[in-house]
Amino acid sequence: MRVLASAPAKIILFGEHSVVYGKPAIAAAIDLRTYVRAEFNSNGAIKIEAKDIRVPGLTVSFSEDEIYFESDYGKAAEVLSYVRQAIELVREEAGKDKGVTVSITSQIPVGAGLGSSAAVAVATIGAVSRLFGLELTNEEIGKLGHRVELLVQGASSGIDPTVSAIGGFIHYEKGNFEHLPFMELPIVVGYTGSSGSTKELVAMVRKTYEEMPEVIDPLLVAMGKIVEKAKEFIISDLDEELRLVQLGRLMNINHGLLDALGVSTKKLSELVYAARVAGAIGAKITGAGGGGCMYALAPENQSEVATAITIAGGTPMITRISREGLRIEEVLP
Ligand code: PMV
Repeated sequence: MRVLASAPAKIILFGEHSVVYGKPAIAAAIDLRTYVRAEFNSNGAIKIEAKDIRVPGLTVSFSEDEIYFESDYGKAAEVLSYVRQAIELVREEAGKDKGVTVSITSQIPVGAGLGSSAAVAVATIGAVSRLFGLELTNEEIGKLGHRVELLVQGASSGIDPTVSAIGGFIHYEKGNFEHLPFMELPIVVGYTGSSGSTKELVAMVRKTYEEMPEVIDPLLVAMGKIVEKAKEFIISDLDEELRLVQLGRLMNINHGLLDALGVSTKKLSELVYAARVAGAIGAKITGAGGGGCMYALAPENQSEVATAITIAGGTPMITRISREGLRIEEVLP
């Protein structure tokens, strides 16, 4: 038997960083997917074939008379530890230790803040649990994905595997998730090509907060209010066009506040402004910042915005919110 499953990437629409201070956040699944094919093997081992996992390429630095090559094999190895942990967890749940071979291909760049690790964990759990004949709901698979993150990373809010497993929009506050009604958001994600360290950026914001709470606290409060306002627009029955315009305005305000916290970079801001100039109705950082990705809301002109992002030196990905989370694509006998 062979099972092919896929799970989507995520973006944080509103509320990154302020969420660390107990404020709410909204995240959504997007139509970039990781595909995992699973089948039993006869030697009892776990075998992982990473066919294409979108690890960013090689960095070459030149000094006086030496050339340094750095590659991101560390990142690839990290992805594989999520896959291995996911398989072991499912084998534990099934109470069987049969050998499993998984083969992975992905549209989601690794280390870009788009939840590639959660997507690979969720797709692996989906494919392997079906292979073992376990009947798990997508919610249950999201919870197992959270356990994988805890085992691999030590700490995690669980927002990434939850969004990846159940799809659509999620409102998150102090550990509680709520599925928001679906709406179409025509977006363009712009990848800077480098990744920021979420851990270091969170620590940097914390330091500024501790040094001048009277300045930083009002910014975080405003970010929390942006999220509540965005939720109001998402669930309102206002005309679609009006809702998009209002969400775009909130994105721009949220970006300004993230910039004020110090998590933007020259490249991120250039991509944000390039997208706005090309007609996006809103553009902001998504995720921790310091590199990684921005996203733009572009109902009329996704391809113009994508071109502007390319010209500004980023990699555009035209995508939509994915209503579906984990999907079983194919089951072959
Ligand atoms: O790097 P990402 O996309 O996983 O986003 C991190 C979001 C933060 O709010 C900055 C950190 C967190 O733990 O919520």
